[in-house]
Amino acid sequence: MTQPHLPLLLSADAAVTEEVLRIAAVSGQAVEIAIDPGAVGPRYGVAPLVLVGADLLDEVRRQLPPRRAGVLVVGAGADGAVLLPAAQDLGAEHVAMLPAAREWLLNRLAEARTGPRREGRIVGVVGGRGGSGASTLAAALAVTGVRAGLSTLLVDADPLGGGLDLALGWERERGLRWSGLAGASGRVDPGTLTAALPGRGPLAVLAWDRPSVVPAAAGAEAMTAALDAGRRAADLVIVDLPRSFDAAASAAARSALMILLVLPSEVRATAAATQVVREVERHCRRIGVVVRGPSPGGLRPGEVARAVGLPLVGEMRPEPGLAAALEKGVVPAATGRGPLAHLCRDLLRSVLA
Ligand SMILES: Nc1ncnc2c1ncn2[C@@H]1O[C@H](COP(=O)(O)OP(=O)(O)OP(=O)(O)O)[C@@H](O)[C@H]1O
Ligand SMILES: [Mg+2]
Repeated sequence: MTQPHLPLLLSADAAVTEEVLRIAAVSGQAVEIAIDPGAVGPRYGVAPLVLVGADLLDEVRRQLPPRRAGVLVVGAGADGAVLLPAAQDLGAEHVAMLPAAREWLLNRLAEARTGPRREGRIVGVVGGRGGSGASTLAAALAVTGVRAGLSTLLVDADPLGGGLDLALGWERERGLRWSGLAGASGRVDPGTLTAALPGRGPLAVLAWDRPSVVPAAAGAEAMTAALDAGRRAADLVIVDLPRSFDAAASAAARSALMILLVLPSEVRATAAATQVVREVERHCRRIGVVVRGPSPGGLRPGEVARAVGLPLVGEMRPEPGLAAALEKGVVPAATGRGPLAHLCRDLLRSVLA
């Protein structure tokens, strides 16, 4: 069967083009080359993969192409860091510097031919202020995903959040944690990752080390590699994001299909959240507000969402017995009953629709 669309390489740099063509030949995947970004038109949106050469990165950005997944920036040489801001602005998933990232690109091209094993969707959760309920919602979404038959990876991207493994009661489980991925760059094998992580059946968690000294940040490379593998291994990836974004959180936010902002129904929380919103908006275009009640001052959920200028996507009502359940390492939504389980089902339905 012939492919309806080929991966697209946008570059007029002979060194980049030759190297990509060599890699493409080894992967068995033909590539279409374009040297004029202005003439690419809708092919940018439909190609299974778009490789933007460092030489044309600024020109491609000026064309304001539609935001899409599967955009990679490729350059020749050692230092890709200078390309990062422009790559982020374009919504690129990764900057691959050749020849160092040869193996990684080879795998990505091979997958464009065979199709990834899965295309798990990544959903981020962030709190508008401390103690909003973001980690609770992240864990609840993950167990709800599993109840709906989705293999799910829960990723703790908040180094100071207290540990999502604890929220699941899995703090004693053996397995791979962030420290084991600290040096990861490029590609992590999806099967190896999920087999190594603490998990039970269709649910796996990527958490921080314990006992936790203040953990070092995961790093953007490790986060990208983990999410890349996670989305191939699982149907759903839920990321618990910190309120203060580091490089890893920014990388996670860029990969997310949608980010849910949990916002307590209070005036001060709304004020605090504007900073968080500003940061999140730099990385992800689809953001929805989940308002957590009750409201001490009688604010309505719609008013809270309007105050931060984002759409309301759900209401988190007080969950009877939640604090006690969390102490025991039980995620309330795991039973499938109660307001939190209800909210999570609705959220997953609309986010993944
Ligand atoms: N739906 C809910 N009903 C009742 N209490 C809740 C609910 N969600 C969260 N809580 C309470 O709020 C506390 C804080 O929740 P959580 O740790 O999920 O917030 P967070 O936004 O992740 O906080 P942090 O800023 O520490 O990351 C929990 O310990 C729990 O007691
Ligand atoms: Mg938290």
